[in-house]
Amino acid sequence: MSGPLEGRVVAVAGATGGLGPSVVQALAAAGASLGLADRDQGELDAVVAGCGLAPDRVDARVVDLLDEEQARGWAADLGARFGRVDGVAHLVGGWRGGTPLEEAPLDDWALLHDLLIRTVQHTSRAFSAALRAGGHGRFVLVSSKQAQAPTHDNAAYAAAKAAAEAWTLALADGFTGTGATANVIVVNAIATPAMLEGKAPDAYPTFTRAQDIADALVYLCSDAAAAMNGHRLQLHGSGLRG
Ligand SMILES: NC(=O)c1ccc[n+]([C@@H]2O[C@H](COP(=O)([O-])OP(=O)(O)OC[C@H]3O[C@@H](n4cnc5c(N)ncnc54)[C@H](OP(=O)(O)O)[C@@H]3O)[C@@H](O)[C@H]2O)c1
Repeated sequence: MSGPLEGRVVAVAGATGGLGPSVVQALAAAGASLGLADRDQGELDAVVAGCGLAPDRVDARVVDLLDEEQARGWAADLGARFGRVDGVAHLVGGWRGGTPLEEAPLDDWALLHDLLIRTVQHTSRAFSAALRAGGHGRFVLVSSKQAQAPTHDNAAYAAAKAAAEAWTLALADGFTGTGATANVIVVNAIATPAMLEGKAPDAYPTFTRAQDIADALVYLCSDAAAAMNGHRLQLHGSGLRG
């Protein structure tokens, strides 16, 4: 039986983080071939081993997405190897916070700016031509409720995620009429399979399961979501702070 992403090629930026393995497995199960990037080759190889893809359907390599030339080289190499790139899942993350904004070190901003915005800029600019060319390109950002409901002790993180969302929605605007789309999945926090192991189903009531995010990402990459461009898909319970 063929999956919704049969024949598609999807690049995953930040593939070995908390969310990465669930996304990689879901995309592979949906039929996509994959290009994976992160900072550690050993961790990338472990994620590849866990997704069950044949070697000719996966490319996993160290790419520093803070270096725009490396991001562009990654996009070019994937295009050359697979002949196309149909989707990009941006999963690069990181967090600093928990301190009132009057006391929080402003250096946090520099770090979060790089991790949460700069990598989005480099990745989207590197892949946007390929995403437009295929007629059904997909870009997906995973974001945080903090972007639209910031708390006093998360100001830098919230501002960085808000900027990343704005960048992604601007990308979506540029995709208008091309068949390509860019969308945002919004969560409060992510419950990874390791966190859920041996826990009661309601152990993390305000978290979203990594598997549910991965399923939403597969949907956004599929033809079923062709009409969804520039949306923020809320994958968390109701309530501003929950
Ligand atoms: N975790 C949550 O509760 C949560 C909540 C809301 C939104 N989100 C968002 O959801 C997405 C996935 O979250 P996550 O927890 O899986 O993220 P993560 O583990 O913090 O980061 C994902 C991966 O990106 C890698 N990375 C960092 N800088 C990089 C660079 N310059 N070049 C290439 N790779 C780099 C990280 O490597 P290192 O391990 O070496 O840093 C890590 O393996 C992120 O965009 C995050 O902001 C997460």
